[in-house]
Amino acid sequence: MPDDRLIAALDVPNALAGLELAQKLGDRVSFYKIGLGMLTSGGFALANELKQEHGKRIFLDMKLFDIGNTVENAVRGLAQFDMDFLTVHGDPHVVRAAKEGASGKDLKILAVTVLTSLDRADLDASLIKSGEIKELVLERAVNAFEAGADGVIASPQEASAIRALPESKGRLIVTPGVRPVGAALGDQKRVATPEMALANGADHIVVGRPIYSAENPASAAQAILDHLPKA
Ligand code: C5P
Repeated sequence: MPDDRLIAALDVPNALAGLELAQKLGDRVSFYKIGLGMLTSGGFALANELKQEHGKRIFLDMKLFDIGNTVENAVRGLAQFDMDFLTVHGDPHVVRAAKEGASGKDLKILAVTVLTSLDRADLDASLIKSGEIKELVLERAVNAFEAGADGVIASPQEASAIRALPESKGRLIVTPGVRPVGAALGDQKRVATPEMALANGADHIVVGRPIYSAENPASAAQAILDHLPKA
């Protein structure tokens, strides 16, 4: 059985490159994340192909945010395509609407708490209330869970505090910002190793550049899998 705790991000320029990468990774990787950049260059067709023809699980990272009615309709449309995870912003009205749109389907709604690229100055510029980012993350995670989110996206360094919340029981924690020992950080700041992220309570780790930028993506993915604690 392939280990679906590893989600490989297909952040490559277009659907053809995404398919080639998935072919290189082969049976090792069973779960793929397709983000906005890929979605605007053929990613939706790629998602369907990976799902229908190769039996992969698919995480659509769309980070939806709109009025409830629009979110609900968008998610209802998407839910027909048999995808596995979808991100929305963690505002309660958005999460509730997304859950309504996904009702009766297996699509899991994951809430983004506070984008990890934002610092306090960015939050001030967006008129977001004062306080430490970590506290806001926890508060938004609780609100998202109470609104029905199936899980949250979190940095591996926030995962243990979220896992400690009673509201997170039975919900998913999915962490990007994961780097194997020795891998380049790129623009990620708050990182942890794949094994630490899982030990901190993550259910799935999302890994992009350490796999797709590796000289041999298949062996990079295999090395990550080999280091994961037994499921
Ligand atoms: O290349 P890297 O491993 O940093 O890729 C991580 C993936 O997770 C990217 O697709 C990035 O957009 C996404 N992501 C993130 N931080 C978030 C949410 C999503 O890095 N808070």
